[in-house]
Amino acid sequence: MRGDSGRFRSRREFLIGAAAAAAAGCGTPLLPLACAQSGSKTRQGAMAPTLNDVSGLRSLRAHGAAHGLLVGCAVNPDHLDGEPDYARTVAEQASIVVPENAMKWAALRPNATQYDFRKADDIVVFALSHEQKVRGHNLCWHEALPSWFAGTVTKENAAQYLTQHIRTVAGRFAGKLHSWDVVNEAIDVKDGRPDGLRNSPWLELIGPSYIELAFRTAREADGTALLTYNDYGIELDTPEQIDKRGQVMMLVRRLQARGVPIDAVGIQSHLSAGDVPGDGLIHFIRELRAMNLQVFVTEMDVNDRKLAEPVAERDAGVAKTYRDYLTPVLAEPNVTVALTWGITDRYTWLNGLQHASRADGKPERPLPFDYDYNPKPAFFAERDSIDGRPGQALPGADHYAPFNPTQPQRPQQ
Ligand code: XIL
Repeated sequence: MRGDSGRFRSRREFLIGAAAAAAAGCGTPLLPLACAQSGSKTRQGAMAPTLNDVSGLRSLRAHGAAHGLLVGCAVNPDHLDGEPDYARTVAEQASIVVPENAMKWAALRPNATQYDFRKADDIVVFALSHEQKVRGHNLCWHEALPSWFAGTVTKENAAQYLTQHIRTVAGRFAGKLHSWDVVNEAIDVKDGRPDGLRNSPWLELIGPSYIELAFRTAREADGTALLTYNDYGIELDTPEQIDKRGQVMMLVRRLQARGVPIDAVGIQSHLSAGDVPGDGLIHFIRELRAMNLQVFVTEMDVNDRKLAEPVAERDAGVAKTYRDYLTPVLAEPNVTVALTWGITDRYTWLNGLQHASRADGKPERPLPFDYDYNPKPAFFAERDSIDGRPGQALPGADHYAPFNPTQPQRPQQ
């Protein structure tokens, strides 16, 4: 079935329909939060210890809804499919999810002519059956390009490859996604260009107009997803980050001045314990608000490699950084979404990164839930920060969709 976008479209309609039917027919109507909470059980079926019961009314998604904020995490479809604790935690905690890798070029493009949407579809089906929104990540990035890219994409055909990819991928999910990271990490001040643009393959092949091309094509393919520019290293008030933040602002201003459709800026927020945000980020968020742009915290985690054992102290240090960072940021009304890059320490990408590893070789603890799906101090710090937000409740904030362990499966191909 691969490579035939017409048939994909009809299969997607089948999938989306199946998800909706299962959600409706699961036998459990939407429960008022208070009711759901009183019956709350652990995964083993025993009554949960109070501190660890963060389902229903106590979840991040419920607190977010009460304060006008979508809350969620990056997800991996293999774990959603194969690990009930993972699936349950994501369903309970997130009102929005983003594929950690499943919508990147390398995941979707086995070769130059075909597309493989199976994993991406799994995430959309899961999310729809749990009343979650989905962010698309990403349409254009210098990383996660497939191995065939370098030998195949040339200066002559790069614009065509980019537009075709965006038309096919954004078109496939048109009307279903909350937002798209259209261009990811296009600024790198170290590359020394006056416009701050990174010397990425896309810049080398197409020139600076690739960014505009990507946004315009995304809008044509999906008229409703919020089109986002996403970047990292713009959170703090160090000289490098102030510089980079300034270049991101100039890029966004240039795009707006040319009438390029852009709706939001994503601030990745990969932090280290002890990082203290200055006023610069809040000014940046307010400037974006004056430009009519939303802001999303897209990939938050807190690296603890500078903190020594014991675990309790590491967890406290990580939680403090969650609190110090999120409390002022989430108080800004144009910040409408907050996601962590994963939900459980069990699967953090940091453990695979050499430069992020701890000297003592211990696994990192950067996320709201620990290896065994227990909420950590970072969870409570995040939730308190959400509660400090002066936002209005989202529609339906007093209801939640219970975890449906028998969600529809993607049909075999
Ligand atoms: C990371 C994933 O978490 C890893 O699993 C993968 O090996 C590499 O990419 N900024 C981004 C994300 O925009 O796509 C990256 O995700 C993390 C940094």
